[in-house]
Amino acid sequence: MLIVVEHPLVKVHIATLRDKGTSVDQFRNTLTAVSRLLAYPVLDELPIERHDVTTPLSESVGYRLTKEPILVPVLRAGLGMVEGFRDVIPGAIVSHLGMYRDHETLKPVRYYSNFPSHRDDHPFLLLDPMLATGGSAVDALDYLKHEGARDIRLVSVIAAPEGVHFVSTRHEDVPVFTAQLDTGLDPRGYIIPGLGDAGDRQFGTL
Ligand code: PRP
Ligand code: URA
Repeated sequence: MLIVVEHPLVKVHIATLRDKGTSVDQFRNTLTAVSRLLAYPVLDELPIERHDVTTPLSESVGYRLTKEPILVPVLRAGLGMVEGFRDVIPGAIVSHLGMYRDHETLKPVRYYSNFPSHRDDHPFLLLDPMLATGGSAVDALDYLKHEGARDIRLVSVIAAPEGVHFVSTRHEDVPVFTAQLDTGLDPRGYIIPGLGDAGDRQFGTL
């Protein structure tokens, strides 16, 4: 299931991210801002449980999260989404997943993981701003499910139809959230119009 998050501020931020004149600093701050806005709809159906509180005057019905969500940023580009999500859910655990796309084959190469122990029943948010061919997302989802994760949401900022299709055929149960569905891919697997290389643009390694 694809969910395109519609919000005027999201559209404004996407334009800033796309603009090739945007500085590294501005790119990073804008990615944080758009991630913060994405966090609310992504967490819409987060399980909560009754946890009553005492006010200065009386007792009151209260709630708390049943399980803290686990953020899984895909290195490097997903790192830029962590701060925005943590602004909204400060208690979120962060479990990094190192992966890059081979420039020749466009296939993902996994080089690091640190799945948190005894937490496979928590909600997992897989964070990667770019969903291009979908190879990295499918591999990351294979990995998370292999480790036992069951409730997973994929969060991207810009998605190509090819990537959305690939993820939905391989992981039909995983909702895909994005801020923008773009036109397609160029022959090198870059999203068009896209924003270029999201890792390079936020870390200045152009
Ligand atoms: C980018 C991006 C995704 C992947 C998307 O990572 O962050 O992980 O490409 O492409 P796909 O959908 O075709 O798999 P990249 O390989 O550029 O690594 P980096 O974040 O370290 O720059
Ligand atoms: N990875 C990126 O960073 N950008 C793209 O357009 C495709 C993959």
